[in-house]
Amino acid sequence: MRIDIITVEPNLLESPFEHSMLKRAKEKGLAEIHLHDLREFGKGNYRQVDDYQFGGGAGMVLMIEPIAQCIEKLQAERTYDEIIYMTPDAKTLNQATANMLSLKENIIILTGHYKGVDQRVRDKYITLEISIGDYVLTGGELAAAVLCDAVIRLIPGVLGDETSALTDSFQDNLLSPPVYTRPSEYDGMKVPEILLSGNFPKIEQWREEQAFERTKKIRPDLLD
Ligand code: 6GU
Repeated sequence: MRIDIITVEPNLLESPFEHSMLKRAKEKGLAEIHLHDLREFGKGNYRQVDDYQFGGGAGMVLMIEPIAQCIEKLQAERTYDEIIYMTPDAKTLNQATANMLSLKENIIILTGHYKGVDQRVRDKYITLEISIGDYVLTGGELAAAVLCDAVIRLIPGVLGDETSALTDSFQDNLLSPPVYTRPSEYDGMKVPEILLSGNFPKIEQWREEQAFERTKKIRPDLLD
Protein backbone atom coordinates (compact mmCIF):
# COMPACT_ATOMS: atom_id res chain seq x y z
CA MET A 1 0.00 0.00 0.00
CA ARG A 2 1.19 3.49 -0.88
CA ILE A 3 -0.03 6.51 1.08
CA ASP A 4 0.72 10.07 -0.10
CA ILE A 5 0.08 12.72 2.55
CA ILE A 6 -0.28 16.36 1.51
CA THR A 7 0.35 18.76 4.39
CA VAL A 8 1.66 22.20 5.36
CA GLU A 9 3.41 20.62 8.38
CA PRO A 10 5.37 17.61 7.07
CA ASN A 11 7.63 17.79 10.16
CA LEU A 12 4.68 16.92 12.40
CA LEU A 13 4.25 13.67 10.50
CA GLU A 14 7.82 12.45 10.22
CA SER A 15 8.34 10.93 13.64
CA PRO A 16 5.16 8.78 13.87
CA PHE A 17 6.33 6.75 10.89
CA GLU A 18 9.84 6.20 12.23
CA HIS A 19 8.89 3.98 15.16
CA SER A 20 7.30 0.71 16.14
CA MET A 21 4.63 -0.87 13.94
CA LEU A 22 4.60 1.84 11.24
CA LYS A 23 8.37 1.64 10.88
CA ARG A 24 8.24 -2.16 10.61
CA ALA A 25 5.52 -1.97 7.98
CA LYS A 26 7.77 0.34 5.97
CA GLU A 27 10.85 -1.85 6.42
CA LYS A 28 8.95 -4.98 5.39
CA GLY A 29 7.85 -3.16 2.23
CA LEU A 30 4.17 -3.52 3.16
CA ALA A 31 3.44 0.21 3.40
CA GLU A 32 5.06 3.22 1.79
CA ILE A 33 4.40 6.71 3.13
CA HIS A 34 5.30 9.79 1.10
CA LEU A 35 5.00 13.25 2.65
CA HIS A 36 4.38 16.23 0.35
CA ASP A 37 4.95 19.77 1.59
CA LEU A 38 2.08 21.82 0.17
CA ARG A 39 4.25 24.94 0.36
CA GLU A 40 6.38 23.60 -2.51
CA PHE A 41 3.29 24.18 -4.65
CA GLY A 42 2.61 27.63 -3.14
CA LYS A 43 2.05 30.75 -5.22
CA GLY A 44 4.63 33.48 -5.76
CA ASN A 45 7.90 34.28 -4.00
CA TYR A 46 6.28 33.69 -0.62
CA ARG A 47 4.98 30.25 -1.60
CA GLN A 48 1.52 31.30 -0.47
CA VAL A 49 -0.88 28.42 0.23
CA ASP A 50 -3.72 30.16 2.09
CA ASP A 51 -5.81 33.32 1.90
CA TYR A 52 -8.65 35.20 3.63
CA GLN A 53 -12.11 33.74 3.20
CA PHE A 54 -14.63 35.37 0.90
CA GLY A 55 -17.50 36.88 2.85
CA GLY A 56 -15.25 37.74 5.78
CA GLY A 57 -14.58 35.98 9.05
CA ALA A 58 -11.57 34.93 11.08
CA GLY A 59 -9.13 32.30 9.87
CA MET A 60 -7.28 31.50 6.69
CA VAL A 61 -8.42 29.01 4.07
CA LEU A 62 -6.12 26.75 2.03
CA MET A 63 -6.35 27.77 -1.63
CA ILE A 64 -7.29 25.37 -4.40
CA GLU A 65 -4.39 25.94 -6.83
CA PRO A 66 -1.47 24.52 -4.77
CA ILE A 67 -3.58 21.53 -3.72
CA ALA A 68 -4.80 20.93 -7.28
CA GLN A 69 -1.23 21.02 -8.59
CA CYS A 70 0.00 18.57 -6.00
CA ILE A 71 -2.92 16.13 -6.43
CA GLU A 72 -2.73 16.25 -10.24
CA LYS A 73 1.02 15.64 -10.20
CA LEU A 74 0.42 12.50 -8.13
CA GLN A 75 -2.51 11.39 -10.29
CA ALA A 76 -0.30 11.65 -13.38
CA GLU A 77 2.01 9.05 -11.81
CA ARG A 78 -0.55 6.46 -10.68
CA THR A 79 -4.24 5.79 -10.12
CA TYR A 80 -5.58 6.48 -6.65
CA ASP A 81 -8.32 4.40 -4.97
CA GLU A 82 -9.29 7.18 -2.55
CA ILE A 83 -8.45 10.84 -1.99
CA ILE A 84 -9.21 11.48 1.65
CA TYR A 85 -9.63 14.84 3.39
CA MET A 86 -9.08 14.93 7.16
CA THR A 87 -11.54 17.37 8.71
CA PRO A 88 -13.66 17.60 11.88
CA ASP A 89 -16.81 18.23 9.79
CA ALA A 90 -17.01 14.67 8.48
CA LYS A 91 -18.13 11.18 9.52
CA THR A 92 -16.11 9.74 12.39
CA LEU A 93 -13.46 7.10 11.68
CA ASN A 94 -14.44 3.60 12.78
CA GLN A 95 -13.05 0.08 12.43
CA ALA A 96 -15.17 -0.66 9.35
CA THR A 97 -13.63 2.29 7.50
CA ALA A 98 -10.13 1.24 8.61
CA ASN A 99 -10.80 -2.32 7.37
CA MET A 100 -12.07 -0.99 4.02
CA LEU A 101 -9.03 1.26 3.52
CA SER A 102 -6.55 -1.50 4.45
CA LEU A 103 -7.53 -3.27 1.20
CA LYS A 104 -6.61 -0.31 -1.04
CA GLU A 105 -3.40 0.09 -3.00
CA ASN A 106 -2.90 3.84 -3.42
CA ILE A 107 -4.45 6.58 -1.34
CA ILE A 108 -3.90 10.30 -0.92
CA ILE A 109 -4.56 11.96 2.42
CA LEU A 110 -5.00 15.75 2.42
CA THR A 111 -4.73 17.36 5.85
CA GLY A 112 -6.50 20.63 6.55
CA HIS A 113 -5.14 23.51 8.56
CA TYR A 114 -6.40 26.95 9.61
CA LYS A 115 -10.11 27.20 8.71
CA GLY A 116 -9.93 24.32 6.27
CA VAL A 117 -9.74 24.11 2.48
CA ASP A 118 -11.65 25.89 -0.27
CA GLN A 119 -14.88 23.91 -0.74
CA ARG A 120 -14.06 23.43 -4.43
CA VAL A 121 -11.14 21.16 -3.47
CA ARG A 122 -13.62 18.92 -1.68
CA ASP A 123 -16.11 19.04 -4.57
CA LYS A 124 -13.54 18.32 -7.28
CA TYR A 125 -11.00 15.88 -5.80
CA ILE A 126 -12.06 14.38 -2.49
CA THR A 127 -13.67 10.91 -2.48
CA LEU A 128 -13.84 10.40 1.30
CA GLU A 129 -13.86 12.79 4.28
CA ILE A 130 -12.84 11.58 7.73
CA SER A 131 -12.90 13.04 11.25
CA ILE A 132 -11.30 11.20 14.18
CA GLY A 133 -13.78 12.43 16.80
CA ASP A 134 -15.95 15.20 18.12
CA TYR A 135 -13.28 17.68 19.19
CA VAL A 136 -11.14 20.15 17.26
CA LEU A 137 -7.44 19.73 16.51
CA THR A 138 -5.20 22.52 15.21
CA GLY A 139 -4.64 20.64 11.98
CA GLY A 140 -5.39 17.32 10.34
CA GLU A 141 -1.81 16.03 10.62
CA LEU A 142 -2.18 14.14 13.88
CA ALA A 143 -5.55 12.84 12.67
CA ALA A 144 -3.82 11.56 9.51
CA ALA A 145 -1.24 9.77 11.67
CA VAL A 146 -4.09 8.15 13.63
CA LEU A 147 -5.77 7.04 10.40
CA CYS A 148 -2.52 5.60 8.98
CA ASP A 149 -1.86 3.65 12.18
CA ALA A 150 -5.39 2.20 12.24
CA VAL A 151 -5.17 1.19 8.57
CA ILE A 152 -1.57 -0.02 8.22
CA ARG A 153 -1.69 -2.39 11.21
CA LEU A 154 -4.48 -4.29 9.40
CA ILE A 155 -2.37 -5.04 6.31
CA PRO A 156 -1.57 -8.78 6.37
CA GLY A 157 1.98 -9.39 7.60
CA VAL A 158 2.37 -6.09 9.46
CA LEU A 159 1.46 -7.56 12.84
CA GLY A 160 2.78 -10.92 14.01
CA ASP A 161 0.36 -13.66 15.12
CA GLU A 162 0.94 -12.71 18.74
CA THR A 163 -0.65 -9.31 18.16
CA SER A 164 -3.14 -10.30 15.48
CA ALA A 165 -5.65 -7.58 14.72
CA LEU A 166 -8.44 -10.18 14.65
CA THR A 167 -8.96 -10.03 18.41
CA ASP A 168 -8.93 -6.22 18.68
CA SER A 169 -11.58 -4.24 20.43
CA PHE A 170 -14.15 -3.17 17.80
CA GLN A 171 -13.31 -5.93 15.32
CA ASP A 172 -16.53 -7.56 16.61
CA ASN A 173 -18.04 -4.29 17.92
CA LEU A 174 -17.09 -5.22 21.50
CA LEU A 175 -14.51 -3.67 23.80
CA SER A 176 -11.61 -5.91 24.85
CA PRO A 177 -11.88 -7.92 28.09
CA PRO A 178 -9.49 -7.14 30.98
CA VAL A 179 -5.98 -8.62 30.68
CA TYR A 180 -3.42 -9.55 33.35
CA THR A 181 0.21 -10.61 33.56
CA ARG A 182 2.60 -11.60 36.34
CA PRO A 183 2.61 -11.38 39.30
CA SER A 184 -0.58 -13.35 40.00
CA GLU A 185 -1.03 -11.35 43.20
CA TYR A 186 -0.04 -7.73 43.80
CA ASP A 187 -0.76 -5.85 47.03
CA GLY A 188 -3.59 -8.26 47.79
CA MET A 189 -5.11 -7.89 44.30
CA LYS A 190 -5.52 -11.30 42.68
CA VAL A 191 -5.77 -12.23 39.04
CA PRO A 192 -9.17 -13.88 38.34
CA GLU A 193 -8.85 -17.60 39.16
CA ILE A 194 -10.25 -18.71 35.81
CA LEU A 195 -7.25 -17.25 33.91
CA LEU A 196 -4.87 -19.49 35.88
CA SER A 197 -7.02 -22.62 35.40
CA GLY A 198 -5.66 -23.78 32.04
CA ASN A 199 -9.27 -24.47 30.96
CA PHE A 200 -9.18 -22.67 27.64
CA PRO A 201 -12.83 -23.07 26.57
CA LYS A 202 -13.88 -21.68 29.98
CA ILE A 203 -11.33 -18.84 29.66
CA GLU A 204 -12.66 -17.95 26.23
CA GLN A 205 -16.22 -17.93 27.59
CA TRP A 206 -15.15 -15.69 30.52
CA ARG A 207 -13.45 -13.25 28.14
CA GLU A 208 -16.55 -13.01 25.98
CA GLU A 209 -18.72 -12.32 29.03
CA GLN A 210 -16.30 -9.68 30.30
CA ALA A 211 -16.14 -8.03 26.88
CA PHE A 212 -19.92 -7.88 26.73
CA GLU A 213 -20.26 -6.51 30.29
CA ARG A 214 -17.60 -3.87 29.69
CA THR A 215 -19.23 -2.79 26.44
CA LYS A 216 -22.68 -2.62 28.09
CA LYS A 217 -21.29 -0.42 30.84
CA ILE A 218 -18.94 1.90 28.93
CA ARG A 219 -20.18 1.92 25.31
CA PRO A 220 -23.81 0.69 25.21
CA ASP A 221 -24.15 2.48 21.84
CA LEU A 222 -21.97 -0.25 20.28
CA LEU A 223 -24.57 -2.88 21.14
CA ASP A 224 -27.46 -1.12 19.35
CL1 6GU B 1 -9.50 15.10 10.87
N1 6GU B 1 -8.96 17.50 11.81
C1 6GU B 1 -9.02 18.46 12.74
N2 6GU B 1 -8.43 19.62 12.52
N3 6GU B 1 -9.65 18.30 13.91
C2 6GU B 1 -10.21 17.12 14.13
C3 6GU B 1 -10.19 16.07 13.19
C4 6GU B 1 -9.55 16.30 12.01
N4 6GU B 1 -10.87 15.03 13.70
C5 6GU B 1 -11.29 15.43 14.89
N5 6GU B 1 -10.91 16.68 15.15
